[in-house]
Amino acid sequence: MTRPTRTQPIPPIEVALGARTYRILITSDDPAPFGPFLRESLDASWAGRACRNALVVADSGSRPHVDPLLPALAAHGIEPRLHIVPAGEPSKSIEQAERLWEALAAMKADRHAAVVAVGGGVIGDLAGFAAATYARGLPLVMVPTTLLAMVDSAVGGKVGINLPQAKNIVGAFHQPAAVWIDTASLATLPVREFRCGLAEVVKYGVILDADFFADLERDVEPILAHDPATLGALIARCCALKAQVVSQDEREESGLRAVLNFGHTIGHAVESVAGYGGRYLHGEAVSIGMVLESTLAERLGWIGPDVTDRISALLQRFGLPTVLDGTEPAMLLEAMTRDKKNQHGAIRFVLPTRLGSVTLTDAASVENVLSVLATRRASPE
Ligand code: GLY
Repeated sequence: MTRPTRTQPIPPIEVALGARTYRILITSDDPAPFGPFLRESLDASWAGRACRNALVVADSGSRPHVDPLLPALAAHGIEPRLHIVPAGEPSKSIEQAERLWEALAAMKADRHAAVVAVGGGVIGDLAGFAAATYARGLPLVMVPTTLLAMVDSAVGGKVGINLPQAKNIVGAFHQPAAVWIDTASLATLPVREFRCGLAEVVKYGVILDADFFADLERDVEPILAHDPATLGALIARCCALKAQVVSQDEREESGLRAVLNFGHTIGHAVESVAGYGGRYLHGEAVSIGMVLESTLAERLGWIGPDVTDRISALLQRFGLPTVLDGTEPAMLLEAMTRDKKNQHGAIRFVLPTRLGSVTLTDAASVENVLSVLATRRASPE
């Protein structure tokens, strides 16, 4: 990573989607540009140009990050109304979506009212879903405050809620008008959640960028110490990689966007069997999933053990789990049959062909998958 100094601003990152193109602005403890950036971004679209009010959605964790934003909205002609959602995955529900629709109705929102989502993945997905559906689509501004949301869920337009049967199963593609990231909000993020974001960061290196992976191996210490310049550069690199993918395959139709699901076929199964909000957080399940899916690529003869060893070692240095403890392989396999990537009943995986490159495949046999799920890989260190 080229590390800018703390005073060097990071140029905005563009997600190029024709008329729906938007920018991601990354700052470090500097709320001043928020108002102008937001107004300029909204003014770039028909709906946003006439925006005079906004529903600002947060939870108890992200509530403190809202305070500097409210006066900035008001100063730019946007009257804010705050809506607090209970923290946690259960809030990605139709009941909470309905409360947001009602709050929008109570403020007499027309098609120009904005929704500003301030928080982690749950808030972005839920508020984004309300924005996508109310009045057939309102301007959405993402203000991610967790590392996972900054590098993944706030960018790319996937919004949605859960059903008891499946995560993220009711949703839409609804691109934001702007994404505002202030890395200072990571200072108060619980360490376990910060590590979960690092699992998605490592994922970008494995799927798209071997040099970035090597930079992460070099920068473990400054990353764990929250060095602002290192974190800013790391988030910018991930956002740029995701922007490239989303620009080319917005709706996950060509197979390109599916590469972002490396580690997620097994990871989602691990989460679902353990129970959401249970033993494993999303990033932890993805960390285990990446190591097991890389082991599956070894079984297919696509890569040598050195690739999996490097992935596993880096995840461990970031304090992430890499070994499944005691979940029944047959239950995981059953959960994988419900994965959204599957086609005609075959389980599809995104597997590495080398560090920095992956392929979507249904070539893995059930026997291979079951044997990998039972693997207890020795620690490479
Ligand atoms: N988080 C995967 C995607 O945005 O496609």
